[in-house]
Amino acid sequence: MLRLDKFLCDVKVGSRSQVKEYLKKGMVKVNGEVVKRPEFKVDEKKDGISFQGKEILYKRYVYYMLNKPKGVVSATRDAMCRTVTDLLKDTGYDDLFPVGRLDKDTEGLLLMTNDGNLAHNLLSPKKHVEKKYYVELERTLGEEGRKALETGVDIGEERLTLPAKVEQITETSIFLIITEGKYHQVKRMMQAVENEVVYLKRVAMGGIFLDENLPQGAYRELTEDEMGIIVSYGRPE
Ligand code: URA
Repeated sequence: MLRLDKFLCDVKVGSRSQVKEYLKKGMVKVNGEVVKRPEFKVDEKKDGISFQGKEILYKRYVYYMLNKPKGVVSATRDAMCRTVTDLLKDTGYDDLFPVGRLDKDTEGLLLMTNDGNLAHNLLSPKKHVEKKYYVELERTLGEEGRKALETGVDIGEERLTLPAKVEQITETSIFLIITEGKYHQVKRMMQAVENEVVYLKRVAMGGIFLDENLPQGAYRELTEDEMGIIVSYGRPE
């Protein structure tokens, strides 16, 4: 349950003072009855709330794709650095978090949500969700290196990495598709084949592709088609 004025602000009907005015003028109905009191408690999941005769749909859970730029940390808060949640301030949702992490110097696709269940489903090691990276390397990736990545390499964990897919673009750039998400995984995999990452960008995750029209630092809501993919990983909360 939450206050009616808070609900109306949350769904962007207006600012706190505008909302107060709208209520006073009788422009808001709860379950068909005009309600003028800002402190009136509503159940946002059950009550039918309308403004100027139009029903308001309250989205408890939201799903965005962000084109993460370099220099921003994948956290909700950081004492020193700008975070990915800072980039989504305009949404008005203050409970968003990133689905997994990208390093500070990595760019590209980061899903942002307030749905803990979705994050859990996409990140669970058991689900083997595919992540696709565009990788620029310091040196040529030879046949031997490619084969090693496709078989599994030692990055200092208990087990070798799971077999990755490598799509060669040029001698020193590849697409790498992995189904794990260990700390610095791609960089460590490249070091395991005696190479170094010089540029890293995530281009896809779990069948959702980075929208190439999205400038760095920009975000947008997932489309219905993309939401269909998300739902296939398990019921959102
Ligand atoms: N692997 C890395 O090394 N860094 C990332 O940001 C993502 C995957």
